Amino acid sequence: MGQGLALRWAMAGEKVIIGSRSKEKAEKIAQELSLRIGKPILGDTNLEATRSADFIVMSVPFEGCEKILEEVAPALSMDKIMLSAMVPLKVTDGLLACYSPPAGSAAETVAKLVGNRVRVCSALQTIGAQELQRIDRPIEGDTVVCGDDAQARRQTISYVEKIANLRAIDGGRLCNSRLVEPVTALLIKLTGRYKVPAVGIKFIGLNGSK
Ligand SMILES: NC(=O)c1ccc[n+]([C@@H]2O[C@H](COP(=O)([O-])OP(=O)(O)OC[C@H]3O[C@@H](n4cnc5c(N)ncnc54)[C@H](OP(=O)(O)O)[C@@H]3O)[C@@H](O)[C@H]2O)c1
Repeated sequence: MGQGLALRWAMAGEKVIIGSRSKEKAEKIAQELSLRIGKPILGDTNLEATRSADFIVMSVPFEGCEKILEEVAPALSMDKIMLSAMVPLKVTDGLLACYSPPAGSAAETVAKLVGNRVRVCSALQTIGAQELQRIDRPIEGDTVVCGDDAQARRQTISYVEKIANLRAIDGGRLCNSRLVEPVTALLIKLTGRYKVPAVGIKFIGLNGSK
């Protein structure tokens, strides 16, 4: 997911830094991705990537986010935005499902853990990593952007829409992430059922649709 997003935003002319628990790994992947598109992408530790960024995307397995958030906390500030793309998925008795963490959703868990150190939004949970990495094709579909700070939400919408062809829908408050995250489990199931590379969502009836 993170690599696909790095490619798409770098292609849009944004400065992108991939964060990792290993600086060497981040640098190696960043270099490979840069070569692929002929645009610079940097790699660094999660802490240093967060320090340098004004827009931070959490795209790690949900179970790993608390430790990372503790690590990057010193680099957070309220002029930055943290976007959660995470979905709390688990397989029980062979059945894939999205579960509700105590805070309500992955995004609200992030908001609870960071407190008032950064503005938190959520989006991109319904965009497949494989689709993001197929850079010869535009992304099809919509993504719902949620967040309690209206200005941060607007900024996130504009940032997400730098990914060519992707439409961002204003989903209102961060608690609405509870409604969005489970859709990912459905999309994964449909991908398997229809044996297609990816399934996305597209809303109808909204003003300003592309
Ligand atoms: N894959 C999709 O199509 C997709 C679509 C929508 C949303 N999402 C959500 O986006 C997030 C990332 O998905 P993904 O498929 O990219 O995940 P992934 O490939 O399993 O992991 C992404 C990166 O997270 C880091 N990581 C892995 N385990 C970790 C842990 N326990 N603690 C801290 N960091 C860890 C690793 O980077 P380093 O080793 O470099 O630190 C890894 O390369 C998930 O929450 C997922 O639900 C995924």
